[in-house]
Amino acid sequence: MNPKVPAPDPAARPFRTAVVTGASTGIGAATVRQLARQGWEVFAVARRSERLEALAAETGAVPVTADITDDDDVARLLATVTAAGGIDTLVNIAGGARGADSLAGADTADWEWMLRVNVIGTMKITRAFLPMLRAHGRGTVLNLTSTAGLVSYEGGSGYNAAKFGQRGMTQALRLEEAEHNIRVVEVLPGLVRTEEFALNRLGDEQAARDVYAGVDEPLTAGDVADLIAYAVSAPHHVNLDEIVVRPVAQAAAHKVIRKPLD
Ligand SMILES: NC(=O)c1ccc[n+]([C@@H]2O[C@H](COP(=O)([O-])OP(=O)(O)OC[C@H]3O[C@@H](n4cnc5c(N)ncnc54)[C@H](OP(=O)(O)O)[C@@H]3O)[C@@H](O)[C@H]2O)c1
Repeated sequence: MNPKVPAPDPAARPFRTAVVTGASTGIGAATVRQLARQGWEVFAVARRSERLEALAAETGAVPVTADITDDDDVARLLATVTAAGGIDTLVNIAGGARGADSLAGADTADWEWMLRVNVIGTMKITRAFLPMLRAHGRGTVLNLTSTAGLVSYEGGSGYNAAKFGQRGMTQALRLEEAEHNIRVVEVLPGLVRTEEFALNRLGDEQAARDVYAGVDEPLTAGDVADLIAYAVSAPHHVNLDEIVVRPVAQAAAHKVIRKPLD
């Protein structure tokens, strides 16, 4: 059920205030840094408190420890943000991949994790904050999906299912919220070298390194954060509906140029 939120007074809130999920590492942490540098007030959300505390000390962001799939945590996050004056921008970055098995060998727990975090978690956070964004009169929701939500690949079925699902939800949300002057942006990155993504997916350091082996300059978390900051800072009538971003060396999901290793 949708949590009941007292509508914040738009006049009492500063514009350019965001919740960023997935803030403890990678693209989320880089996005908090970039928005803070540009003068945004940011609530940085993830499950690992120590990492959020360190990021808060560095950037001035407000750390909020929360699991986006947990109803009580989402309600507590909403209460914290409401008490602090509200937001006009929600940046959903929390998500990820587990495993690279073919469907014939699919691990049910991995699939459930991916669908729960990428799809259900994004839904729960967004559902909770929509009344606040509507009340503000001009809100932004940015969902970080993936090129895995555009084209399937062998060994990707679980992650493909999750990111196609998150993308479908994002497209429906854009249609549903336009009347409320809420713009919905989707950012779809290809290969981004981050600290934990491939490691969490594949489970060991060597396999994680192999994902990027020989690839000339995969995207960095900072590259994607720059785009996110641009999209949410653009004049409100400008909706960058879908931003697909890949390294030059990745011309398509099936074409990654790798230099021979020494
Ligand atoms: N790296 C890539 O190549 C790539 C490409 C395209 C799209 N993406 C997408 O980009 C997003 C970020 O990926 P990344 O590469 O920066 O690194 P990542 O290691 O996948 O980061 C995932 C982030 O989500 C948070 N998170 C996971 N489950 C959560 C939960 N239940 N509640 C709250 N937070 C949760 C994690 O923090 P805690 O563990 O502290 O909770 C972490 O901050 C993901 O959605 C991923 O699918 C990544």
